[in-house]
Amino acid sequence: MKWLVFASACLSTSLIANTSAVGADGDSRPAAAATGQTLQDVQAFAAIRDRRERSLALFVEAGKVIESPRCLNCHPVTARPTQTDGAIPHQPVVTRGPDGFGRGGMRCSNCHQAENYDVSGVPGSPKWHLAPAVMGWQGKSLGQICRQIKDPTRNGGLDMAGLVRHMGDDPLVGWAWKPGGDRTPAPGSQEGFGKLIAAWAKTGGHCPDD
Ligand code: HEC
Ligand code: HEC
Repeated sequence: MKWLVFASACLSTSLIANTSAVGADGDSRPAAAATGQTLQDVQAFAAIRDRRERSLALFVEAGKVIESPRCLNCHPVTARPTQTDGAIPHQPVVTRGPDGFGRGGMRCSNCHQAENYDVSGVPGSPKWHLAPAVMGWQGKSLGQICRQIKDPTRNGGLDMAGLVRHMGDDPLVGWAWKPGGDRTPAPGSQEGFGKLIAAWAKTGGHCPDD
């Protein structure tokens, strides 16, 4: 559902309609999952002369990663993570708890280890835990997500440079490209994604209106 809404919102903006570099697959996205997408290189946006338009196009491209199931499953607005490409509620019931690592006996580390565990299919990464509710992205538009990730009161006090580093280097973010099991990896690579975010920041870090 979300993808359909997002895709039609994209198509209705002149930015996308006029920019061949993005949105080429905008009308063929599956409803639930960002499967089979590719991530364009920063170079693909060099031809957009207007700085603001270029910034917006870069963020929309990076949005393919940000709105991928691998990121969204850990950035819910409720207390419970979701799983699979269809974002079903986490089984069994687990909640964020006071520190993001679970509540009571249901700690994330009871099941999630420092690496993916291929035998059982449980994904893993050091410090596996749930993003705080203020960093929830599920059900939000790309513009809303953009504004909140730039807001130091909601992003853990990161300035733009810190945000760029987090996207490009953080191991929890990086897990999305080697998710284990039969999970769909986020499109492109963390390096390519980091470059898009860095170029977006450099062009003013503009956010889509919606
Ligand atoms: C009792 C064991 C258990 C506990 C505790 C647990 N998980 Fe999981 N989790 C799993 C299993 C098993 C899967 C894999 C399910 C699948 O892919 O079908 C999973 C998958 C996930 C996924 C889905 C990844 C994806 O993109 O498909 C996320 C996100 C997740 N867990 C987050 C958490 C967080 C955060 C915590 C702590 C608050 C936690 N889990 C606690 C067993 C657990
Ligand atoms: C296993 C859970 C998990 C996954 C998967 C995950 N994140 Fe996060 N994310 C977190 C947690 C927890 C935080 C809070 C900061 C911290 O403790 O590292 C966070 C914080 C962030 C932040 C900074 C704060 C903000 O405004 O949201 C960004 C940006 C971010 N994540 C991006 C991503 C992207 C992009 C992906 C996918 C490529 C991703 N994350 C996947 C758990 C996750």
